[in-house]
Amino acid sequence: MLINKSEIIEAAAFLQRGGLVALPTETVYGLGADATNPDAIKKIFALKGRPANHPLIVHIAKGAPLGHWATHIPVAAHQLIAAFWPGPLTLILKRSQRIPLDVTGGQDTVGIRCPAHPMAQALLAAFAKMGSGAIAAPSANKFGHVSPTTAQHVRDEFGEVVGNTSNNAIYLLDGGACDVGIESTILDLSRAHPVLLRPGAISREQIRNVIGEMPFTREEAALNKPPSAAGKTRSDPAHTGQNDTPRVSGSLAAHYAPLTPLVLLTAAQLQSEIDILLDAGKRVAVLAFTAQPRVKPSPVGIGIRNARRLVWITAETDAVGYAQGLYAHLRTLDAAATSMILVECPPDSAPWDAINDRLSRAAAGSHQH
Ligand code: TXA
Ligand code: MG
Repeated sequence: MLINKSEIIEAAAFLQRGGLVALPTETVYGLGADATNPDAIKKIFALKGRPANHPLIVHIAKGAPLGHWATHIPVAAHQLIAAFWPGPLTLILKRSQRIPLDVTGGQDTVGIRCPAHPMAQALLAAFAKMGSGAIAAPSANKFGHVSPTTAQHVRDEFGEVVGNTSNNAIYLLDGGACDVGIESTILDLSRAHPVLLRPGAISREQIRNVIGEMPFTREEAALNKPPSAAGKTRSDPAHTGQNDTPRVSGSLAAHYAPLTPLVLLTAAQLQSEIDILLDAGKRVAVLAFTAQPRVKPSPVGIGIRNARRLVWITAETDAVGYAQGLYAHLRTLDAAATSMILVECPPDSAPWDAINDRLSRAAAGSHQH
């Protein structure tokens, strides 16, 4: 990827002045501000419509001193950083005093991530030279909505303030479509036993292979149960009683949601639901693994009319490709102004965990608009 150095310097200077920069990462686009500037942080919450108690992830450059931003760093953090940074893994650690409470939603922990996208790395390096070097950035979407995976998605979310000269302007860096397509894995290392707060491209098994113990799922942490999956290495009595639920906006049942109601269906349910909706004269959007079925020719032309009311995207059949395209597909289907988005359930296996997590929250969130 060609990086325009003067653009990066301009964006870093904008951050330094308290401005907001939308930046590409390998997961999704972020809406960034200087993590040490509470006024800049407030702008993020205002623009996103995000409740103040939902903490932001702090992004740092490769090789940046972690001890500057976090304290009580366990060995597991160093092991995971060596294995997966830069990359789609956020670590929750004890907060250093340098991180204002506005960033962490008042909590004594902070989420830290080192993104792999070369433009994000270039921006972080430039910002480390002229400012704090720490960029707090949630996904660059309105609260609860689908995360952006292209610069155009960011314009679709915040068009009114992208590139203008107001105090609340967003400086947008276009780094193309995001490689991963769904948000980073979040692992809480601030407790006695690691907890997977949000599944992502880096799996529980990959983490287990590096740190030697299986992270709890949120459900297991809440119930104080040892991991259910094979490979569990210990049941630690020390964490008994640690059932406090961290405030993770991605953990809300309703999140990552389109405005059109979205439902998840099996392949068999999908076909009958399509028929019911089309017969009722509705427009229908579909994300399925199969190609759009050929519409039967009908003497009165009903088949043809139905076909026009059916908006169909054939999803990628591998989990990596599916994740990459997912949010763009949901946005396309949302924009098609149909009465319902029908999504064929992906397989219920480990590589699809993060995707199934996002889809179930999208379904829940879409019914709350
Ligand atoms: O891939 C990503 O992580 C993207 C890119 C831009 O880096 N960022 C992202 O940010 O998804 P956001 O704000 O949309 O989601 C961050 C999640 C939220 O669910 C937040 O609650 C959680 O991280 N989080 C941040 N700090 C936390 C903390 N100290 N404890 C628990 N959860 C935390
Ligand atoms: Mg988000």
